[in-house]
Amino acid sequence: MISIFTRAPKKTIKNTVKKTRLPPESVSAPLAEQRPDITWDAGRQTRKGSRYGLYDPAPEGAISTTRQAEVSNLAVPWSPTSYKGLLFGIDLESGWGVMHDPIFAYPHTVNNANVVVIGDIGSAKSSAGKTWGCLRPMIIGRNVIVIDKKPSDSNPEEGEYAELCRYQGGEPVTFKIGGGGSCINIFDPSISAETEEDSTTGETPPSQSMLLRAVAEEVLGRPISPREGKALRTAHRRALKDAKAQGITPTIRLVINRMIDPAEEDSAHLEISKATLREWGYDVAFELERFVEEDLAGMIDNETTKDVKLKDGLTVFDVSQLPENGPALAIVMTVINTWMTNRLFKAKNRRQTHFVVEEAWHLVQTSVAKVIRRNQKVSRAIGLSNWFFFHHVSDIPAGTDAEAIIKECDTVLVYQQKKAPDARAAVDMFDLPASSYPTILNLATGTCLMKIGNEAPFEVKHLRSDVETILTDTDKALVARTTSEKEQDHGLPTA
Ligand SMILES: Nc1ncnc2c1ncn2[C@@H]1O[C@H](COP(=O)(O)OP(=O)(O)O)[C@@H](O)[C@H]1O
Ligand SMILES: [Mg+2]
Repeated sequence: MISIFTRAPKKTIKNTVKKTRLPPESVSAPLAEQRPDITWDAGRQTRKGSRYGLYDPAPEGAISTTRQAEVSNLAVPWSPTSYKGLLFGIDLESGWGVMHDPIFAYPHTVNNANVVVIGDIGSAKSSAGKTWGCLRPMIIGRNVIVIDKKPSDSNPEEGEYAELCRYQGGEPVTFKIGGGGSCINIFDPSISAETEEDSTTGETPPSQSMLLRAVAEEVLGRPISPREGKALRTAHRRALKDAKAQGITPTIRLVINRMIDPAEEDSAHLEISKATLREWGYDVAFELERFVEEDLAGMIDNETTKDVKLKDGLTVFDVSQLPENGPALAIVMTVINTWMTNRLFKAKNRRQTHFVVEEAWHLVQTSVAKVIRRNQKVSRAIGLSNWFFFHHVSDIPAGTDAEAIIKECDTVLVYQQKKAPDARAAVDMFDLPASSYPTILNLATGTCLMKIGNEAPFEVKHLRSDVETILTDTDKALVARTTSEKEQDHGLPTA
């Protein structure tokens, strides 16, 4: 049994009344005198207060049960998120603003700051990435690094983030097959030279040797054998020593050379002949050589170009001109990710950073997923929030590192999945209630189901400002017809 009217403790009331200035004598008759049928003071001891109408009517409490008292607790629409975060849009059920910031929400509402966005083409995923993932976080001092995979509709020779990058005063860092673009040396001194054998904690970003192995497996299209691995590691160590002795920066070409022509000292150390050591490494060396000369030419085999640097604000790595098929894309994306994680790991006074990967299945489908997962593990230590964008759950092979990467994202945005199997797969993958299934099939453009940590998902409409609407408009025809007018309206550069 509970009393639905609570009485204030005596002490508090006494204090309150002492400080209260009483109304002058001229006030009209106290309410208590006007309505003697109502108990005004509810037994409170401060008669003066009651006399001058300082209290609301306070009838004696009635005895009730919790069940009965429920009726006095009418439904109140409430925002599904706290007010602490960046505005995403409007909750369609309550009409409240939806605020969320994956870094700020850690560790209270989410166990990690990673975000996954999934949805059909044209459902407005990139729009969320460009606004809520990039522009808005920069207002609160975040750095944003984007891997831009999709060619822009208005200019297919560059990625869709190029315009956004220029709007922020920068230029994209562009990777092109055959040189002429930017390059990240996979043996860049920023990337730790520590070998996996040296690593004691596993809490460090992937090292050069882990990256080299992933690249080798990617170009071979299969895991490398223990002997191939030994030949690769031996050649890597020797190449580092050679480069140091010659005062040059090590590159992958030095490693390939040392696989084809191993040092006598190394074969003697392994108690095998030089020919045997060369034999162990032949397949890997020749395949690496072919890729470095063809598919990856100029992108990972020279010194890192000057435009590749961690800068404050927005950095866009444009990989939109790399072929969809073949390992180049996955390798370049992984090298960028590893370079970035190592740089952030070593940087002093680093800012919190968002790493946004559009069309992320290139990253997670392949053998490089192991490297990406290792990068993800150190994210918390370096204030990194990883954002992965996909079309469908079927893009993610079950039971792989890729699936683990996605499941480790505690902020999930599911945009429309028009096909029933895709919608069902999304419900299963993200542990959504069964009632989400018809919702996912019918979500309007710009509307998604958002799930934060273990909270129930809710339907939210993403909102864009006028400028954001222009910068996220990927409808080519519309852009061609109205961009210059809109730019003039909003003071954007028209060049
Ligand atoms: N919040 C929104 N509300 C309504 N339409 C939107 C919204 N965001 C983007 N759009 C429109 O949807 C279209 C597709 O957006 P885009 O972000 O490129 O989709 P996706 O990345 O899923 O392919 C664009 O023409 C864009 O103007
Ligand atoms: Mg997109």
